[in-house]
Amino acid sequence: MTPSTATEMRYAGIDLHPLSDHVGAEIRGVDIAGGIDETLFTSLRRALADFGVVFFREQKLTPEQHLAFARRWGRINVNRFFQPVDGYPQIAEVRKTPDQAKNVGADWHTDHSYDKVPAMGSILYARETPTSGGDTLFASMYTAYESLPAALQRRIAGLRAVHSSRHVFGPAAVRGDEFAGRIGNATLAVQDATHPLVIRHPDSGRSALYVNPDFTVAVEGLPAQQSNALLQELYASAARPEHTCRFEWKRHSIAIWDNRATWHRALNDYPGELRLMHRITLEGVPLEAAAQRS
Ligand code: SIN
Repeated sequence: MTPSTATEMRYAGIDLHPLSDHVGAEIRGVDIAGGIDETLFTSLRRALADFGVVFFREQKLTPEQHLAFARRWGRINVNRFFQPVDGYPQIAEVRKTPDQAKNVGADWHTDHSYDKVPAMGSILYARETPTSGGDTLFASMYTAYESLPAALQRRIAGLRAVHSSRHVFGPAAVRGDEFAGRIGNATLAVQDATHPLVIRHPDSGRSALYVNPDFTVAVEGLPAQQSNALLQELYASAARPEHTCRFEWKRHSIAIWDNRATWHRALNDYPGELRLMHRITLEGVPLEAAAQRS
């Protein structure tokens, strides 16, 4: 079988265009609102597993169709902090208006890592995009782990890290600033969770780095200085450009990403313009440590 035949069989019914060597693929020829049969959906699942994030363009979706697409992937997890879309408590609004300076999700992160059972994935739909800018970057956490020197892989094996929502969504973080009306329920930001630094991905079984600059606050059991130094070393390596892809949104683009296999960050380079996205988050499962290498 030629490699292209194998690829065609693995992704039957979809036209797949990788955005980089390790993460991200655009899928063409799929009409989400028109319905996705089981064969097509199997191919989409495989593409998400292989690329960590997949993108579709020109999908004109109502909120109900966005929700129906999300339900194909799993149960919906309702975000506590984002302003919901009017009439749709399960859809979070990611909005930046022309008068606002800060955007949401500007630093590298993985959604909901502060939860004891972190979200499996997120589905982001572009309702309004700026004339230019507002791209989202994604990084592969498989590559982030696999590219670490063996000695560093051994050093982090078996370690756990603490993740928190307090410093991002809590009263001290969002008090009186321009996130009012976009981020709320600050008093609910009391989640702390610990997860392995290196997880065994629940679906693929691959090892993935599971710490992120936004929500990870410490490596358990290490003095603060050592913990910070280790996290910074891991972050610098994970964010190397060769581990990333960049997606340029157009109105009606939609992405689904796996939060256990990727990081993402939204660029804030469109002053004075509106960017309005609708996000649905999907329930995940508890995360287990990857098997330790000898
Ligand atoms: C997010 O961080 O979930 C939103 C990303 C984006 O707005 O591009």
